[in-house]
Amino acid sequence: MDIIRGFSKLSREEKIAYIQNNFPLAGDLAKTTNHYRHIEDQAIFDDFSENTLSNFYLPYGVAPNFLIDGEMYVLPMVIEESSVVAAASRAATFWANHGGFKTTVHDSLKIGHIWFQWEGDSNILKKHIHSLESDLRSSVKKITRSMEQREGGIISFKFTPQPELANIWQMQVSFKTADSMGANFINTCLEAMKEPLSGYFEKQNLPAAEIIMAILSNYTPDCLVTCEVSCKVEQLAPYAAGLTPQEFAQRFKLAMDIAYHNTHRAVTHNKGIYNGVDAVVLATGNDFRAVEASGHSFASRDGQYRALSRCNITDDGVFSLSLTIPLAVGTVGGLTRLHPLAALSMEILQNPSAEELMSITSAAGLANNFGAVASLVTTGIQKGHMKLHLSNILTSFDASPEERSRAEIYFANTTISTQKVREFLKR
Ligand code: MEV
Repeated sequence: MDIIRGFSKLSREEKIAYIQNNFPLAGDLAKTTNHYRHIEDQAIFDDFSENTLSNFYLPYGVAPNFLIDGEMYVLPMVIEESSVVAAASRAATFWANHGGFKTTVHDSLKIGHIWFQWEGDSNILKKHIHSLESDLRSSVKKITRSMEQREGGIISFKFTPQPELANIWQMQVSFKTADSMGANFINTCLEAMKEPLSGYFEKQNLPAAEIIMAILSNYTPDCLVTCEVSCKVEQLAPYAAGLTPQEFAQRFKLAMDIAYHNTHRAVTHNKGIYNGVDAVVLATGNDFRAVEASGHSFASRDGQYRALSRCNITDDGVFSLSLTIPLAVGTVGGLTRLHPLAALSMEILQNPSAEELMSITSAAGLANNFGAVASLVTTGIQKGHMKLHLSNILTSFDASPEERSRAEIYFANTTISTQKVREFLKR
């Protein structure tokens, strides 16, 4: 097949025809993509990306009863995995009865870099730092002015050679980005400083600096929040599922310690945290790839990938669980107000600040982590999953209400598979 050129310039119908003519298994593309287009607002969605044919639907759910720092919230969650919203709601209700989630936002700093090649002497660079910084700050004054009015802007500069690479330097810039996630602001500032940076070396008759690239870093260990819950061990009874609350708490802590020490378990454990985190990040129109990339590198900060959450049981019987997680999220800018459902999420959350959204999102992560580990150390996760799995299979077979209720009874204690449900419905 020939390479197609100018695909993006084709109309939507022409793009569909190209796929239909060249990829025989593509099905009825026109019918399906048309079906999922929005009657009134399609232009909004088309604008978010390129070569848009349709919309990809995911469930938009809500989890009530999140008591976070004394305020009650209903959390919007976008997720395709069954049980996540149910587990979050159950955990939120449980913790609301035991003081709720308490959070601390440690800081909300973000960083970006200009990487450059420079064959100069670091002692000479030191002498120029003040005037270089002041040149760079004034070169982006027009860009930073409105962020400064919102108490954001450039915080500091730092110049470091990259030890493994001869003559490669990193100019690190720290930013505060108020209520925005700040990626566009940071990248605009950095790109605008490229020329003034190399210009400065030229002006001062220093060896020439060759700029390699300018980009924010998605590793945000200083945009960090801790979320905690605690209760007396005996209050854990509703989750103990046949164990005593003490046995449950001990087993829970062991599972948490395993996830701290073992990387294979840590990855799955943290995935359970991101079930809640990503669902809120998506529902609020934030960048889940950035949030995930940062969190996983933070989980490896001491050289081993570890659980992001920890558990403690004191001698006097207090069970506590805490999650410390970097969360670069915003409540203005990007998709947060452009996507109609992201805008709705902000309203449901009572228009939080970015730091409040960090707290809210961390609570979703901790709630899902608590629910997942509680299931794992008691009944296992398949019981809850399978109920929803059965419902999905029945929907795919168009089962009638009567078939559904009979299937629910039949499969209550029987292994569920698509094949078995098909045979059951036939019978
Ligand atoms: C499934 O989506 C998430 C879990 O695997 C998380 C965990 O193992 O802690 C249940």
